[in-house]
Amino acid sequence: MSESRQILVTSALPYANGSIHLGHMLEYIQTDIWVRFQKMRGNQAVYVCADDAHGSAIMLRAEREGITSEQLIDGVRAEHMADFADFLVDFDNYHSTHAEENRELSSSIYLKLRDAGHIATRPVTQYFDPEKQMFLADRFIKGTCPKCGTADQYGDNCEACGATYSPTELKDPKSAISGATPVLKESLHYFFKLPDFDAMLKQWTRGGALQESVANKIAEWLDAGLQEWDISRDAPYFGFEIPDAPGKYFYVWLDAPIGYMASFKNLCARRPELDFEAFWNKDSKAELYHFIGKDIVNFHALFWPAMLEGAGYRKPTALNVHGYLTVNGQKMSKSRGTFVKARTYLDHLNPEYLRYYYAAKLGRGVDDLDLNLEDFVQKVNSDLVGKVVNIASRCAGFIHKLNNGVLPSREFTLSQLEKVREAHGWSGSTFFEDDGFYRTIEIEIGRAYEARDFARAMRETMRWADVANNFIAVTEPWKLAKEGKNDEAIAVCAEGINWFRLLVILLKPVLPKLAEAAEAFLNVAPLTWADHEQLLANHQLNPFNPLMTRIEPAKIDAMIEASKEDLAASAAKPTGNGELTKDPLAAEINFDAFAAVDLRIALIEKCEFVEGADKLLRLSLDIGDEKRNVFSGIKSAYPDPSKLEGRLTLYVANLAPRKMKFGVSEGMVLAAGPGGEEIYLLSPDSGAKPGQRVK
Ligand code: MSP
Ligand code: ZN
Repeated sequence: MSESRQILVTSALPYANGSIHLGHMLEYIQTDIWVRFQKMRGNQAVYVCADDAHGSAIMLRAEREGITSEQLIDGVRAEHMADFADFLVDFDNYHSTHAEENRELSSSIYLKLRDAGHIATRPVTQYFDPEKQMFLADRFIKGTCPKCGTADQYGDNCEACGATYSPTELKDPKSAISGATPVLKESLHYFFKLPDFDAMLKQWTRGGALQESVANKIAEWLDAGLQEWDISRDAPYFGFEIPDAPGKYFYVWLDAPIGYMASFKNLCARRPELDFEAFWNKDSKAELYHFIGKDIVNFHALFWPAMLEGAGYRKPTALNVHGYLTVNGQKMSKSRGTFVKARTYLDHLNPEYLRYYYAAKLGRGVDDLDLNLEDFVQKVNSDLVGKVVNIASRCAGFIHKLNNGVLPSREFTLSQLEKVREAHGWSGSTFFEDDGFYRTIEIEIGRAYEARDFARAMRETMRWADVANNFIAVTEPWKLAKEGKNDEAIAVCAEGINWFRLLVILLKPVLPKLAEAAEAFLNVAPLTWADHEQLLANHQLNPFNPLMTRIEPAKIDAMIEASKEDLAASAAKPTGNGELTKDPLAAEINFDAFAAVDLRIALIEKCEFVEGADKLLRLSLDIGDEKRNVFSGIKSAYPDPSKLEGRLTLYVANLAPRKMKFGVSEGMVLAAGPGGEEIYLLSPDSGAKPGQRVK
C-alpha cells in the first residue's frame, strides 16, 4: 500500500438565495462519491463546503421578505444542509462565507495582495439609483435597446436582437429595484491586478491542473489578454467591508473561494489532527481539488490561483469541472416540471437511485449529463435491484434455511463447488482463486474511481455482477436444494454471498446506505476498499431484509407533478422563492405579456371530485363556443363541488394544456386567497356571458 495521502476537496459554494435542485446535486453527489472512495482507501480526505452568503441579490431578497440578511442566510443554510444530508452527501464541514474565519482570511489575503502591489484603485462611473441610494449592477437596470428599440431590456444585452452594450447606452434607463431613473455617479473602485499573474497562469493552466478542453478555453482568454478585476462594491452591500476602505465592500466573488479555506479553518478548530498551515502553505504536500461546474471556470482557473499565489499560499492541485444537467434531453424547465428541487425529489424517491444514475453517467469530461427519466427507472431497476440486490436475496434464504445462516469454511465451499462443476458442466473458475481477478478490480475499478471516471467504474462493476448472476443461474442452487444436495447448495450460495459482498465494496462510495444495510446483513464491520482481498467464511450472517426496492414509474410522475406545483406556489408569491428573485423584475410584466393572456368568462357546467387526488376538483367548462376540462387545486375550499355548478368564473383559455395523472388539464380558472379553506373563485358581475373576453 502506498502512503496515505492528505486530500482536501471542495464543491462550489451554493448561493444562499435559492433552493438546491437536481442540477446542483450532480456536483455534490460526484464530489461525495470521490471523497468516500478516498476515505475507503484509507487516505486522509476532507470534504468542506459552505453557503455563498454575500451579494446584493441576497440583501434585496431579505429586504423584500422583511427580514435581515443574516436571518435569510441562516434559514437557507439550514435548508441546504438538510437537503445534502438526505442525499447522503457527507461533508466534513458545511460553513458559511458570512463567518468570522472568512472575514479574517479575506482581509488578510487582501492586505497581502495590497502590500505586494497587486491592488489598484481608480474611479468608476456607474448608474446609481437615487431613490434606493445604491449603485446598480447591470442586471438591475432596464431600458430600451439602443440597437433595435425593444423596450424592457436588461442592462448589458438585448433579448430581442442579441446586441450587447454598456448600461449607459440603454435608452430610457430605469432601476429595476425602485423604478427610478438612475443617474450617473462616480465612485472609487478597488481592482485586483490579474495581469501581474499572466506568466504564472499560463504555466499553471497547462500544468495538468485542468481537463484539456478547459485548459483550451482558458488559453483563449489568456491570449486575449487579462484585465484587472473589480473587487469592490459600494455600500449598501451584504458582505465584508474592505479593511482600509470604509464604506467599500469585497465583491462576493472575492470572498467566496476564500470560503473554502475558511470552512477548512473552522473544521481545524474541531479536529486537532488537521493543520491549516500544512494544507495551505506554499510548499504543502497535501492535495487540493475543487469540483465545479463549467460556468464558474474563470473564477477558479484565473482569479483564484492568482489570489493564492499573490498572498503566498499553495494553488489547487486540480479543478474537476463538470457539465450541466439536462432532463429528458432538455434544459431543466419549470413548466415541464423538470426543474426538480432536491427536496421534491426526496419526497418521492430514494437518493441512492439518483446517486447511482449520476455515477453511471459521469465521465471525466465536461459534457452535459442527461437525466433521462425512462432510462433512469430502467437502469436503476435492472442494475441495482435486478443484478446486485438480487444475488443476496437469492442466496441468503438457503444459507439460513440449510445452514442456520452460517457461511461455511472456504475448504468446504471449494470442495462442494467441484462437485457442482462436474454436475452442471459449469466452466468458470471459482473467481476468488484467480489472481487476475484482484488485479482487475484494482486496475479497472479502483483506477476508474480515482480518475473520476465513475461511468467506467459502474460499468465494470456491473460486468462482475453479470458474472455473479450467471454463476447462480448456471449452478441453480434452488434445484440443488430440491434434489437434497444441501452441501452443494450451501456452497453455491456462500460463493454468491461473497460475490454480493464484493459488489457492495465496489459500490459503497456511491451507495453508502445500501452498503450499511448490507454490512448489517453480512454482520461485518464497515467495509473498506482493501476488504475486497478477503473472503467471508466460517461466519454467521444476520437475517436478510430487502435492501432496495424497484423505482415505481408513478413516483416519477408524482415528482414531476409536484415540481409543477412548486412553480404554481412560487408564482403566487414571487418574493418567497429563490429562483424567481434571481430576476428582480419577475413580479412585474409589461402590457404585451399581459395582453397575451386569453382571459374569458366560463360557465362551470359540472364540478366533481377526482378519485385519488387530495387537492383537485375536475371542472367541465362552457366557454361559449367550446367545452373545456380543467383540474383545479381548490378542493380544500369547496368540499361540496356541486355548489359550484352553474356559476360563472374567469378562465385562462390559452394556457398550454398540462398532462396530469388524472387526465389533461386545459387552461385554468382563477381564484385568490392564501389556501386551505380560504380560496375564493373569482366571478364576474351578473350579466356576463360564457365566452366573453376580458378587455
Ligand atoms: N456561489 C457560486 C459558487 C462559488 S464557489 C467559490 C455559484 N453558486 S450556484 O449555486 O449557482 O452553483 C453551485 C454549483 O452548482 C456550481 O458549480 C454550478 O456550476 C453547479 N450547478 C448549478 N446548476 C447546475 C446544473 N443545472 N447542472 C450542473 N451543475 C450546476 O455558482
Ligand atoms: Zn435589441
